[in-house]
Amino acid sequence: MEYTIAPLSEHTGAEVRGIDLTEPIEATVKTRLNRAFVDRSVLVFRDQHLAPHQLVQAVGLFGEIFPQHNSRFALTDCPPVHYISNKEFYPDGRRYIPGEGYHTDHSNAPRPPKATALHAVSLPEHGGDTQYVNMHLLYDELPQETRRRIDGLRAIHVYQSRHSARKLMELSAENRNQVPDAVTHPIVRTHPESGRKAIYINPIRIEGIVGMPETEALHLLGHLLDHAMQPQYEYRHQWRPGDLVIWDNRSLLHKANGDYDMSQLRYLYRVMLQGDVPV
Ligand SMILES: [Fe+2]
Repeated sequence: MEYTIAPLSEHTGAEVRGIDLTEPIEATVKTRLNRAFVDRSVLVFRDQHLAPHQLVQAVGLFGEIFPQHNSRFALTDCPPVHYISNKEFYPDGRRYIPGEGYHTDHSNAPRPPKATALHAVSLPEHGGDTQYVNMHLLYDELPQETRRRIDGLRAIHVYQSRHSARKLMELSAENRNQVPDAVTHPIVRTHPESGRKAIYINPIRIEGIVGMPETEALHLLGHLLDHAMQPQYEYRHQWRPGDLVIWDNRSLLHKANGDYDMSQLRYLYRVMLQGDVPV
Protein backbone atom coordinates (compact mmCIF):
# COMPACT_ATOMS: atom_id res chain seq x y z
CA MET A 1 0.00 0.00 0.00
CA GLU A 2 1.37 3.43 -1.00
CA TYR A 3 0.54 5.97 1.63
CA THR A 4 2.03 9.10 3.20
CA ILE A 5 1.95 10.70 6.63
CA ALA A 6 2.88 14.39 6.47
CA PRO A 7 2.97 17.06 9.22
CA LEU A 8 0.20 19.67 9.22
CA SER A 9 1.98 22.17 11.47
CA GLU A 10 5.27 22.43 13.26
CA HIS A 11 4.15 20.52 16.34
CA THR A 12 0.63 19.09 15.95
CA GLY A 13 -1.29 17.20 13.30
CA ALA A 14 -0.40 14.89 10.46
CA GLU A 15 -2.22 14.21 7.23
CA VAL A 16 -2.60 10.62 6.06
CA ARG A 17 -3.14 10.03 2.36
CA GLY A 18 -3.42 6.89 0.29
CA ILE A 19 -5.20 4.73 2.86
CA ASP A 20 -8.73 3.50 2.32
CA LEU A 21 -10.09 2.69 5.77
CA THR A 22 -12.82 0.46 4.37
CA GLU A 23 -10.03 -2.00 3.43
CA PRO A 24 -8.14 -4.25 5.86
CA ILE A 25 -5.03 -2.51 7.27
CA GLU A 26 -1.75 -4.43 7.63
CA ALA A 27 -0.23 -4.77 11.10
CA THR A 28 2.89 -2.74 10.17
CA VAL A 29 0.74 0.11 8.86
CA LYS A 30 -1.40 -0.01 12.00
CA THR A 31 1.73 0.26 14.16
CA ARG A 32 3.02 3.21 12.16
CA LEU A 33 -0.33 5.00 12.35
CA ASN A 34 -0.48 4.51 16.09
CA ARG A 35 3.02 5.92 16.45
CA ALA A 36 2.14 8.93 14.31
CA PHE A 37 -0.99 9.44 16.43
CA VAL A 38 1.07 9.62 19.63
CA ASP A 39 3.77 11.83 18.04
CA ARG A 40 1.45 14.29 16.29
CA SER A 41 -1.68 14.14 18.56
CA VAL A 42 -4.03 14.70 15.58
CA LEU A 43 -4.29 12.45 12.51
CA VAL A 44 -6.32 13.56 9.50
CA PHE A 45 -7.33 10.86 7.03
CA ARG A 46 -8.46 12.48 3.80
CA ASP A 47 -11.05 11.20 1.36
CA GLN A 48 -12.80 8.62 3.52
CA HIS A 49 -16.45 7.75 3.02
CA LEU A 50 -17.32 5.50 5.92
CA ALA A 51 -20.65 4.07 6.96
CA PRO A 52 -21.05 4.08 10.78
CA HIS A 53 -19.98 0.44 11.23
CA GLN A 54 -16.93 1.03 8.99
CA LEU A 55 -16.04 4.04 11.10
CA VAL A 56 -16.15 1.93 14.27
CA GLN A 57 -13.81 -0.56 12.66
CA ALA A 58 -11.43 2.15 11.37
CA VAL A 59 -11.20 3.94 14.72
CA GLY A 60 -10.77 0.53 16.37
CA LEU A 61 -7.26 0.48 14.82
CA PHE A 62 -6.31 2.86 17.63
CA GLY A 63 -8.01 1.21 20.60
CA GLU A 64 -11.15 0.03 22.29
CA ILE A 65 -14.46 1.92 21.94
CA PHE A 66 -15.48 4.17 24.89
CA PRO A 67 -19.19 4.30 25.83
CA GLN A 68 -20.23 7.97 25.57
CA HIS A 69 -22.23 9.63 28.37
CA ASN A 70 -25.27 11.03 26.68
CA SER A 71 -27.10 8.39 24.64
CA ARG A 72 -29.38 11.07 23.18
CA PHE A 73 -26.94 11.53 20.28
CA ALA A 74 -26.26 7.83 19.59
CA LEU A 75 -27.17 6.53 16.12
CA THR A 76 -30.02 4.08 16.59
CA ASP A 77 -28.61 1.56 14.11
CA CYS A 78 -25.00 1.87 15.38
CA PRO A 79 -24.94 3.14 19.02
CA PRO A 80 -21.11 3.35 19.44
CA VAL A 81 -21.32 6.17 16.88
CA HIS A 82 -22.84 9.46 18.01
CA TYR A 83 -23.66 12.41 15.83
CA ILE A 84 -22.74 16.05 16.16
CA SER A 85 -25.11 18.43 14.46
CA ASN A 86 -25.84 22.16 14.39
CA LYS A 87 -29.56 21.37 14.12
CA GLU A 88 -30.08 20.72 17.84
CA PHE A 89 -31.69 23.17 20.25
CA TYR A 90 -31.79 23.68 24.01
CA PRO A 91 -35.24 23.27 25.59
CA ASP A 92 -35.54 27.11 25.58
CA GLY A 93 -35.12 27.18 21.79
CA ARG A 94 -31.53 28.45 21.57
CA ARG A 95 -29.30 26.63 19.14
CA TYR A 96 -26.88 24.13 20.72
CA ILE A 97 -23.39 24.20 19.21
CA PRO A 98 -21.68 21.06 20.48
CA GLY A 99 -18.05 21.47 21.55
CA GLU A 100 -17.90 25.26 21.79
CA GLY A 101 -15.33 26.49 24.28
CA TYR A 102 -12.01 24.78 24.93
CA HIS A 103 -12.25 21.40 26.68
CA THR A 104 -11.01 17.83 26.70
CA ASP A 105 -13.67 15.17 26.21
CA HIS A 106 -15.42 13.42 29.12
CA SER A 107 -12.73 14.27 31.69
CA ASN A 108 -15.28 13.56 34.44
CA ALA A 109 -14.86 9.83 33.72
CA PRO A 110 -12.48 7.87 35.98
CA ARG A 111 -10.82 6.64 32.75
CA PRO A 112 -11.46 9.44 30.25
CA PRO A 113 -11.36 8.63 26.53
CA LYS A 114 -7.83 8.67 25.15
CA ALA A 115 -9.06 9.70 21.73
CA THR A 116 -12.01 11.16 19.89
CA ALA A 117 -12.63 10.70 16.19
CA LEU A 118 -14.92 12.79 14.00
CA HIS A 119 -15.90 11.95 10.45
CA ALA A 120 -17.39 14.70 8.30
CA VAL A 121 -20.73 13.75 6.78
CA SER A 122 -21.98 17.23 5.89
CA LEU A 123 -20.04 20.49 6.22
CA PRO A 124 -20.89 24.17 5.83
CA GLU A 125 -19.22 25.89 2.88
CA HIS A 126 -17.04 28.04 5.14
CA GLY A 127 -16.00 27.97 8.78
CA GLY A 128 -16.71 25.40 11.50
CA ASP A 129 -12.99 24.73 12.06
CA THR A 130 -11.86 22.66 15.03
CA GLN A 131 -9.06 24.26 17.06
CA TYR A 132 -6.55 22.29 19.08
CA VAL A 133 -4.04 23.35 21.74
CA ASN A 134 -0.95 21.24 22.34
CA MET A 135 -0.81 20.87 26.12
CA HIS A 136 2.59 19.12 26.08
CA LEU A 137 4.19 22.17 24.52
CA LEU A 138 2.38 24.37 26.99
CA TYR A 139 3.78 22.36 29.89
CA ASP A 140 7.30 22.35 28.41
CA GLU A 141 7.29 26.13 28.16
CA LEU A 142 5.75 27.00 31.52
CA PRO A 143 8.02 28.89 33.91
CA GLN A 144 9.78 26.64 36.42
CA GLU A 145 7.95 28.38 39.26
CA THR A 146 4.50 27.59 37.78
CA ARG A 147 5.49 23.98 37.17
CA ARG A 148 6.58 23.67 40.80
CA ARG A 149 3.31 25.20 41.96
CA ILE A 150 1.09 22.80 40.01
CA ASP A 151 3.14 19.67 40.52
CA GLY A 152 1.07 17.12 42.45
CA LEU A 153 -2.18 19.13 42.34
CA ARG A 154 -5.43 17.33 41.54
CA ALA A 155 -8.48 18.93 39.96
CA ILE A 156 -12.09 17.93 40.64
CA HIS A 157 -13.98 17.12 37.43
CA VAL A 158 -17.79 16.89 37.28
CA TYR A 159 -20.26 16.48 34.41
CA GLN A 160 -20.82 20.21 34.30
CA SER A 161 -18.86 22.69 36.37
CA ARG A 162 -20.87 25.51 37.90
CA HIS A 163 -18.00 27.77 36.75
CA SER A 164 -18.43 26.79 33.09
CA ALA A 165 -19.50 29.53 30.70
CA ARG A 166 -20.88 26.94 28.30
CA LYS A 167 -23.89 24.82 29.21
CA LEU A 168 -24.05 21.19 28.16
CA MET A 169 -27.20 19.41 27.10
CA GLU A 170 -29.07 17.97 30.14
CA LEU A 171 -28.68 14.25 30.73
CA SER A 172 -31.66 11.94 30.93
CA ALA A 173 -32.27 10.39 34.38
CA GLU A 174 -30.93 7.09 33.08
CA ASN A 175 -27.73 8.64 31.71
CA ARG A 176 -27.24 10.63 34.90
CA ASN A 177 -27.02 7.40 36.92
CA GLN A 178 -24.14 6.23 34.73
CA VAL A 179 -22.10 9.42 35.10
CA PRO A 180 -19.87 9.66 38.18
CA ASP A 181 -20.59 12.55 40.59
CA ALA A 182 -17.00 13.77 40.69
CA VAL A 183 -13.56 12.43 39.99
CA THR A 184 -10.13 13.90 40.58
CA HIS A 185 -7.30 13.91 38.05
CA PRO A 186 -3.78 15.33 38.19
CA ILE A 187 -3.34 18.76 36.61
CA VAL A 188 -0.04 17.55 35.19
CA ARG A 189 -0.44 14.17 33.56
CA THR A 190 2.11 11.93 31.89
CA HIS A 191 1.28 10.45 28.52
CA PRO A 192 1.28 6.64 28.97
CA GLU A 193 2.88 6.03 25.58
CA SER A 194 5.28 8.93 24.98
CA GLY A 195 6.11 9.72 28.63
CA ARG A 196 5.61 13.45 27.91
CA LYS A 197 3.91 15.61 30.50
CA ALA A 198 0.87 17.71 29.67
CA ILE A 199 -1.42 20.15 31.44
CA TYR A 200 -4.78 18.44 31.90
CA ILE A 201 -7.45 21.07 32.52
CA ASN A 202 -11.04 21.44 31.36
CA PRO A 203 -12.90 24.72 31.94
CA ILE A 204 -16.25 23.06 31.30
CA ARG A 205 -15.87 20.29 33.89
CA ILE A 206 -13.37 21.38 36.55
CA GLU A 207 -15.12 22.46 39.72
CA GLY A 208 -12.05 23.13 41.83
CA ILE A 209 -8.65 21.94 43.00
CA VAL A 210 -8.29 19.54 45.92
CA GLY A 211 -7.18 21.37 49.09
CA MET A 212 -7.17 24.85 47.52
CA PRO A 213 -9.57 27.71 48.26
CA GLU A 214 -11.99 28.30 45.39
CA THR A 215 -10.81 31.78 44.39
CA GLU A 216 -7.20 30.69 44.33
CA ALA A 217 -8.07 27.58 42.29
CA LEU A 218 -10.07 29.58 39.74
CA HIS A 219 -7.26 32.09 39.46
CA LEU A 220 -4.68 29.36 38.85
CA LEU A 221 -6.86 27.58 36.27
CA GLY A 222 -7.55 30.89 34.51
CA HIS A 223 -3.83 31.59 34.44
CA LEU A 224 -3.07 28.19 32.86
CA LEU A 225 -5.86 28.65 30.33
CA ASP A 226 -4.59 32.11 29.39
CA HIS A 227 -1.19 30.58 28.69
CA ALA A 228 -2.81 27.84 26.60
CA MET A 229 -4.60 30.39 24.43
CA GLN A 230 -1.37 31.60 22.83
CA PRO A 231 -1.33 30.98 19.08
CA GLN A 232 2.01 29.15 19.05
CA TYR A 233 0.37 26.14 20.73
CA GLU A 234 -2.53 25.89 18.29
CA TYR A 235 -3.33 23.69 15.32
CA ARG A 236 -6.51 24.76 13.55
CA HIS A 237 -8.21 22.16 11.42
CA GLN A 238 -10.18 23.28 8.38
CA TRP A 239 -12.54 20.50 7.48
CA ARG A 240 -12.79 19.01 4.00
CA PRO A 241 -15.46 16.58 2.83
CA GLY A 242 -14.34 13.02 3.58
CA ASP A 243 -12.08 13.95 6.52
CA LEU A 244 -11.74 11.53 9.39
CA VAL A 245 -9.91 13.27 12.23
CA ILE A 246 -8.75 11.44 15.33
CA TRP A 247 -7.11 13.28 18.20
CA ASP A 248 -5.44 12.56 21.52
CA ASN A 249 -7.42 13.88 24.48
CA ARG A 250 -4.44 13.23 26.77
CA SER A 251 -2.39 15.82 24.89
CA LEU A 252 -4.80 18.49 23.65
CA LEU A 253 -7.61 20.85 24.37
CA HIS A 254 -10.04 21.34 21.51
CA LYS A 255 -13.06 23.40 20.56
CA ALA A 256 -15.57 23.77 17.77
CA ASN A 257 -16.39 27.06 16.07
CA GLY A 258 -19.94 28.25 15.57
CA ASP A 259 -18.77 30.89 13.07
CA TYR A 260 -20.56 29.60 9.94
CA ASP A 261 -23.90 29.97 8.19
CA MET A 262 -26.28 28.09 10.50
CA SER A 263 -28.77 27.46 7.68
CA GLN A 264 -26.18 25.01 6.29
CA LEU A 265 -25.96 21.59 7.90
CA ARG A 266 -22.83 20.64 9.81
CA TYR A 267 -23.09 16.97 10.70
CA LEU A 268 -20.31 14.64 11.82
CA TYR A 269 -20.06 11.17 13.30
CA ARG A 270 -18.20 10.81 16.58
CA VAL A 271 -16.50 7.78 18.13
CA MET A 272 -14.35 7.74 21.27
CA LEU A 273 -11.69 5.35 22.51
CA GLN A 274 -11.15 4.12 26.04
CA GLY A 275 -8.23 5.66 27.94
CA ASP A 276 -6.34 4.92 31.15
CA VAL A 277 -6.61 6.49 34.58
CA PRO A 278 -4.61 9.75 34.20
CA VAL A 279 -1.36 9.74 36.21
FE1 LIG B 1 -15.27 17.74 22.41
